[in-house]
Amino acid sequence: MIGKVVSVVQQRSAQWYAGTDRNAYIHRAWMRRGLPAHAFDGRAHIAIANTASDLTPCNAHLNEVAESVKQGVYEAGGIPLNLPVVSLGETLVRPTAMLWRNMAAMAIEEMLRANPIDGVVLLGGCDKTIPALLMAAASVDLPAVVIPGGPMLTGTFRGRALGCGTDVWRLSEEVRAGTLSEAQFIASESSMLRSRGHCNTMGTASTMGLLAEALGMVLPGLGGTPAADSRLLEGAHKTGRLAVEMVAAHRTPSSLLTRGSFLNGIVTLAAIGGSTNAVVHLLAIAGRLGIDLTQDDFDVTGAQVPLLVDLQPSGRFLMEDFFRAGGLHAVLREVQDLLDPTALTVTSSPLVGPLGDAEIWDREVIRSRGEPLQAHAGIAVLYGTLAPDGAVIKPAAASAHLLQHRGRAMVFDSIEDMHARIHDPDLDVDVDAESVLIMRGCGPKGYPGMPEVANMPLPAKLLRQGVRDMVRICDGRMSGTAYGTVVLHVSPEAAAGGPLALVRTGDFVILDVPARRLDIDIPNEELAQRSPSEATVTAYATPLRGWERLYVQTVQQANTGADLDFLVGSTGDRVSRESH
Ligand code: FES
Repeated sequence: MIGKVVSVVQQRSAQWYAGTDRNAYIHRAWMRRGLPAHAFDGRAHIAIANTASDLTPCNAHLNEVAESVKQGVYEAGGIPLNLPVVSLGETLVRPTAMLWRNMAAMAIEEMLRANPIDGVVLLGGCDKTIPALLMAAASVDLPAVVIPGGPMLTGTFRGRALGCGTDVWRLSEEVRAGTLSEAQFIASESSMLRSRGHCNTMGTASTMGLLAEALGMVLPGLGGTPAADSRLLEGAHKTGRLAVEMVAAHRTPSSLLTRGSFLNGIVTLAAIGGSTNAVVHLLAIAGRLGIDLTQDDFDVTGAQVPLLVDLQPSGRFLMEDFFRAGGLHAVLREVQDLLDPTALTVTSSPLVGPLGDAEIWDREVIRSRGEPLQAHAGIAVLYGTLAPDGAVIKPAAASAHLLQHRGRAMVFDSIEDMHARIHDPDLDVDVDAESVLIMRGCGPKGYPGMPEVANMPLPAKLLRQGVRDMVRICDGRMSGTAYGTVVLHVSPEAAAGGPLALVRTGDFVILDVPARRLDIDIPNEELAQRSPSEATVTAYATPLRGWERLYVQTVQQANTGADLDFLVGSTGDRVSRESH
């Protein structure tokens, strides 16, 4: 048996296991707890990078998914190895899961590189987990395939479907508006999360699971499968088999993903009405691969794409409906002419290959190309004196009458400042439905971590008047399950010297989405004379140690993906040095 071990050198894992010397002995012996000797005869060793965690409830079922992956890997002659990795639960992790996305990506990257593995199956679900896994896999560039954990089933409350996330915003605003009692609000809590799986709206988790497939990184047809659907486990089994095949073919992210793959992702993002968070995530993943992708690509490519999916937060239905209606392939078939036909998937076949068999089974949920919800969807990228490096808005989630708007600024220096004053009955007497709410200090450096707070609540006194949307501008992000006329990701952020730091309450601000402009209506010379107030500057984060300090010192701006400057790019799967 050892002779056979010695002869096998083609696998990366053989760098650890092949040979008769002491090191190879140690590497094999410590793994021989249940593994037979032939586990080291050149079989593909497949890590299952598993973000299951009781503190990431959206991913808690991934251990069961991992078992199905294992069966598939074994069946194909490989060796599956569970690798628990950093997990991020969107609702629990403080101050914001985005602060830890790059940390998770860095830790996963290092563990993939440091261990004797030949390929990896990436198990994610909750918002940041799939982006972090893909960023890591892109930088290590081992054969890699994603299994999106899938959305939860639809829960209902008083006969009405509840979109988790989206309906929390709606119900809480109803409480504040006095149209729903607090007791009724609390009673809805246990109805909102009906099953295992991630949020069931077209929020960030659903979006990134579908985009992972649109990029080509998922077994075709698996994206969007509900977490409780047995077809997810069947797909996990097949993915385990596929991972072994990918190792044999040395099918790595860099050999699959092209600029065309990312443009396919942008077309998909627009057609499904996906989360604005996908902008920073796709930019960051592309950055790891050295692919030339910019924020403007989202506008240019997305602008010609119709909105075809009627899901919350901007629409009516939920992910279970989407899957039943035909799922991602039904959408992609409708926009197939806009997709790069050469872009490949993990199967080495083109993304567009299976689309001929796709059908729409419910045209209320997924519209045909001829009857779109909106002719032009996508993300609009705005530039102007308030956002020299850009800002984004999702017109599909905004109020049409506010897309061209001029109003007086009501400025908050921080989240805390906003919370302290937004419902104050004495809040600036001039605040009305025409006002523009501005919050700064919420960018990657400022908070830190770019929290999802841009959809700030409306002043209670305006809610009571029936106002349900206002123009809001922020250097932070917005939850993918939220909605409203919200300008996000303003770059540079205030804490990085952006002009957002110079706006004062009472200044007039002009939003013109059709013209792609976001301006402060004061002369440039006057703006140049201003400097940020002390209250503005003292609200910025100043972490003294640990990850937060490293993050604030090295994080880039939202318009390039908010990755750390030293994590952009790839160094492949080679370890820096071999010990022993
Ligand atoms: Fe996990 Fe929404 S909280 S996906």
